[in-house]
Amino acid sequence: MENNFHDLIVNRRSIRRYADRPIDANDVRLIMEAALMAPTSKSSRSWQFVLVEDPEMLERLSHCKPAGQTSLTRCPLAIVVAADPTLSDPWIEDASVAATYIQLQAEALGLGSCWVQVRGRFDAAGVPAEEIVQEALGMPDTMPVECIITIGYKDEERKPQNLEKLQWEKVHIGKWKQD
Ligand SMILES: Cc1cc2nc3c(=O)[nH]c(=O)nc-3n(C[C@H](O)[C@H](O)[C@H](O)COP(=O)(O)O)c2cc1C
Repeated sequence: MENNFHDLIVNRRSIRRYADRPIDANDVRLIMEAALMAPTSKSSRSWQFVLVEDPEMLERLSHCKPAGQTSLTRCPLAIVVAADPTLSDPWIEDASVAATYIQLQAEALGLGSCWVQVRGRFDAAGVPAEEIVQEALGMPDTMPVECIITIGYKDEERKPQNLEKLQWEKVHIGKWKQD
């Protein structure tokens, strides 16, 4: 378990391979508490989350796009992050912040996670990934899906972030500085 927030940020890497064991129910609860405490525009709480553990459903979801989806078939838990645009015009931001909270809380619990982008992606036949996910899970088409966060005990080693390679040239002090 990480104690220092900066260390947590340095050590968090996308993890796409997970051990074949379920996540402790209390940890799942803590992760969802974090998601439900994420800030939203005008406190709209526009998000909705679908937790998926069934391997057959995870396999089905993995067909929503041809690349960047492999972690779905290897994880014990996936959290589908959607939001209601009628409640919040910046629903994408609401969903994205919640997804990030989920990833950081998972890391703090010693779990690995990976963002699987759904919005704007398509399967091999050109069907929107969002439609495939909504249909598989019985979600209304009025509830757009931003992403799926896969979570599990880490089964791959990733190096921490390299502080020497941070792109400080992208930080402008006082006014924009052209190179
Ligand atoms: C908006 C967004 C979309 C992403 N989509 C995917 C994805 O579809 N599949 C995937 O495996 N990783 C995805 N990632 C993870 C990135 O590939 C990863 O964060 C990036 O390569 C940096 O690596 P790191 O997370 O280990 O620092 C996504 C991340 C973000 C923030």
